[in-house]
Amino acid sequence: MALTRVASVGTTTPTTTSPTSPEPIYNPYAFAVHDNPYVIYTRLRDEAPAYWNPELRFWALSRFDDVLEGFHDFETFSSMGGVALESRRNRSHERPPFEQMIEMDPPDHTVFRKLVSRVFTVLRMAEMEDDVRQIVAGYIDAVIERGEADLVADITSPFPMDVISAVLGLSEADRPFLREVSDQILVREDGSIQIPQEAMEAMFDLLSYFQADLGRRRTSGGDGLISDLLLLEVDGRALTEAELLGFCVLLVIAGHETTTKLVSNAIEILSRHPNQRNELVAAPNLASGAVEEVLRFHNSTQYMHRTLTCDREMHGRQMHEGDSVLLLIGAANHDEREFGPTAEEFDLHRRPERHLAFGYGAHFCLGAALARLEGRVALEEIHRRLPDYEVDHDAKVRFHSSNVTGWSSLPIRFTPCSPSGNR
Ligand code: HEM
Repeated sequence: MALTRVASVGTTTPTTTSPTSPEPIYNPYAFAVHDNPYVIYTRLRDEAPAYWNPELRFWALSRFDDVLEGFHDFETFSSMGGVALESRRNRSHERPPFEQMIEMDPPDHTVFRKLVSRVFTVLRMAEMEDDVRQIVAGYIDAVIERGEADLVADITSPFPMDVISAVLGLSEADRPFLREVSDQILVREDGSIQIPQEAMEAMFDLLSYFQADLGRRRTSGGDGLISDLLLLEVDGRALTEAELLGFCVLLVIAGHETTTKLVSNAIEILSRHPNQRNELVAAPNLASGAVEEVLRFHNSTQYMHRTLTCDREMHGRQMHEGDSVLLLIGAANHDEREFGPTAEEFDLHRRPERHLAFGYGAHFCLGAALARLEGRVALEEIHRRLPDYEVDHDAKVRFHSSNVTGWSSLPIRFTPCSPSGNR
């Protein structure tokens, strides 16, 4: 399959969030929303639980029960029109150059998910714990004598890519390139639904990389999940190039971006909650509770897009077949109807019975066990080895995307130490 560079699509919309306007205006691309989405989320839940944005033409569901239903009812809320607002497309007409299971509905989705799900089970992930710890420790070793680091560039960005690359069978030398293009693919401009040219070029570069990688594996073999996929079959046939590319792109981006952001979000939040951070230093077994609360409190995935397959009324508003619907995970996870009056507070002892950080139902995050393992191990190691870290809040740089929330840069300072001293 030949790839062609695609031109920019979409429209520029300078919409901003105005907390004083009579009607809430929610634009997921507005940098002001990224700075604090929870103000507008509260208004959406209370004043417009079925919210329509006429400019960007999407509905947004913000209450826990509605978002849960959206994830659960794939027959009404289809993934086939794309899962990001800016890359939505007509469900039946347009075929992308790569086909990802995340953009399929059951029963097709079930067949594709089965091909890879055995690799990401809780049990298989637990076997990786020592390796993950070794990788994280190596990045801490590299900065610990300096007494300062960019948490993102030096620790939280490289280690998840190392882990997912090891699972997929991608070479160490290629990982900086893979991190760079994954980030670039997701970057968006303030208020604009338009996919920037740089993001499209980065997607082109990633697809070209995987085309070449697949070609090499076909002639000379190789390791890891990608090579396994070349030998697997669906409905008695080998996977097409578009399906193979779909798996590669999905797993490398999902495996890297969300977990990188999970850990840097955790450190940024804990640095603003010093008592809880001290508790974590004193009792590392609190790390898994802290991960769960970061996922609820400030998830690295803020929404998923769905397309309605039929007309539907919700909260007195008439929605139509083909309409876009955003399932606002970030808003649902702060819904006091589900989490009680302290929903807006960060509490690592909370242990919520359920949250929607990883979605729900057919598409429930395939990498949830891996993300939880990576998050826990990283928090344990960072709080054990850099216990007095301080975040330079004036110098931190936010990552601006459509639905991925996190930091591009998070400078920290800590007491220097020799790597062997506290390993
Ligand atoms: C904090 C980390 C993570 C978060 C918050 C997250 C979030 C999500 C969410 C919300 C979905 C549901 C998508 C939908 O319903 O449309 C999802 C699906 C998915 N995630 Fe994750 N994810 C994380 C980490 C990972 C990792 C480490 C991997 C690596 C394997 C991964 C791979 C996937 C895949 C392949 C799907 C699609 C599953 C399907 O379509 O059946 N994720 N993730």
